[in-house]
Amino acid sequence: MSERIDTSVATHRPRILVMPDAPLADAHVAERIAAYLARESRPVLGLATGRTMVPVYAALRERFVQGRLSFAEAESFNLDEYCGLLAEDPSSFASYMRRHLFDHVDMAPGRYHLPDPQAPDAFEAQIARAGGIGLQLLGIGRNGHIGFNEPGAARDSRTRIVRLEESTRRANAGDFPQGAVLPTHAVTMGISTILEARSIVLLAIGAGKADSLARAFDGPVGPACPASFLQLHGDVTVVCDAAAASRLEETT
Ligand code: GLP
Repeated sequence: MSERIDTSVATHRPRILVMPDAPLADAHVAERIAAYLARESRPVLGLATGRTMVPVYAALRERFVQGRLSFAEAESFNLDEYCGLLAEDPSSFASYMRRHLFDHVDMAPGRYHLPDPQAPDAFEAQIARAGGIGLQLLGIGRNGHIGFNEPGAARDSRTRIVRLEESTRRANAGDFPQGAVLPTHAVTMGISTILEARSIVLLAIGAGKADSLARAFDGPVGPACPASFLQLHGDVTVVCDAAAASRLEETT
């Protein structure tokens, strides 16, 4: 794939917070989400799935139980969902979100949204109606994907159906029963959709994310590493542990 790099655009270096260990990084992200929920009268969250986020949602549930956090006024939009799975399928991201967060907190069922493969444009309209995403939570794939924007994703992409890379399907195989045929496609917010969030927090844990973090923030901006488009956003905070930060040139 040939990468076209647009050198005419301003790029930003994100704040990169290297925490002493993974639990402190998780707690820090949960703390940022809690602070955002407390600060905003109508908070609109962009949410992510993946193994990285499991302890973040556990920390949010704990705060909720302690009465230190409420989702009552919040609305949320998830980054992505597999195609071809029912929402009730335990391997769907909808099930993941119910299991790890929605079933345990005070967010009303009609206030959280996952993209529907049948109606990607409607998802964009819903985000706009909510007033746009205030705080977007992101993980990162080993190949540099954000959401399911795989290498090759365009800067101006919006919510749409994409084909998953084989490496992504292998990486996520653990979320499916043994022997299951994994989805080949997913619906995901696009790069443009993500960049329109007012503030972005990306969490990366472990040595397996070191290469993709370095490519995203020390490399050129372009579709070869979709996370590199985050350099075009002026308010990105990367929270990581030392292992994930090990290949970055410079940290905050
Ligand atoms: C998944 C999701 C992404 C996630 C990434 C990393 O497939 N589509 O939103 O950030 O891959 O996942 P993990 O946290 O399991 O490494």
